[in-house]
Amino acid sequence: MAAAQVSEEIAGEAGRLAVGILGGTGDQGRGLGRRLAMAGNRVIIGSRDAGRAEAAAATIGSPPQVTGAANEDVALAADLVIAAVPWEGHIDLLARLAGALEGKIVVDCVNPIGFDSRGCYPLPVAEGSAAEQAATVLPGSTVVGAFHHVSAVLLLDPEIETIDLDVLVLGEDRHATDLVQALAERIPGVRGVYAGRLRNCGQVEAFTANLVAINRRYKAHAGLRITDIGP
Ligand SMILES: NC(=O)c1ccc[n+]([C@@H]2O[C@H](COP(=O)([O-])OP(=O)(O)OC[C@H]3O[C@@H](n4cnc5c(N)ncnc54)[C@H](OP(=O)(O)O)[C@@H]3O)[C@@H](O)[C@H]2O)c1
Repeated sequence: MAAAQVSEEIAGEAGRLAVGILGGTGDQGRGLGRRLAMAGNRVIIGSRDAGRAEAAAATIGSPPQVTGAANEDVALAADLVIAAVPWEGHIDLLARLAGALEGKIVVDCVNPIGFDSRGCYPLPVAEGSAAEQAATVLPGSTVVGAFHHVSAVLLLDPEIETIDLDVLVLGEDRHATDLVQALAERIPGVRGVYAGRLRNCGQVEAFTANLVAINRRYKAHAGLRITDIGP
């Protein structure tokens, strides 16, 4: 059985990344930014409004380690960029930033899900998934799907030191998926698990609707663990 663990070399590379977060003023962006900053990464929070980004950055850290800027400047400055915007704004924002994101790894954590009187459900996506939509509008970037099931509430909770979770990582490029696994593992308790190519990201995103149902029934912030792949 191949080890699920990432190599020390990749772990070191992940530790040196300046991580930009588009839509980083939201709970998910601030939560991931906070945990990655705590792990020692440089974090640049992005927003459609630079002032809002600076204010959000100040809630999770201080310069020069944690800063805020307009989304486009974040895309240009960061080594790796996480897209953490609502599904509704996803395609327009990424298409607009395609030039700035060229040559970068773009991590998509967007869940196309809707809510109605019967609860949460996955929305149909023409490209198959949000991550595949990102890959379509960002031909010059390496798109990786990850962090779909992590709870922003847990990430932001100062009482919680470790997060009991496997982060499923999907993509076409082995180095990029290894690096994002290693980045996920900088959050104590988290294991990064390679989960296939981008064409399999749709059901990972859609599974979030099941987690929302689980969370409602059990009043929890449930996550996933994959068995039989080692530590
Ligand atoms: N919350 C979670 O627990 C969680 C967990 C896993 C995955 N996710 C995914 O992560 C993404 C962000 O979640 P969130 O809860 O942080 O969302 P959110 O708070 O609703 O949005 C995040 C940020 O996106 C920006 N934004 C809003 N509408 C936009 C638009 N039309 N175009 C461009 N930017 C827009 C806003 O920042 P500015 O106004 O400052 O630009 C906002 O603060 C979602 O796709 C979600 O599915 C969330």
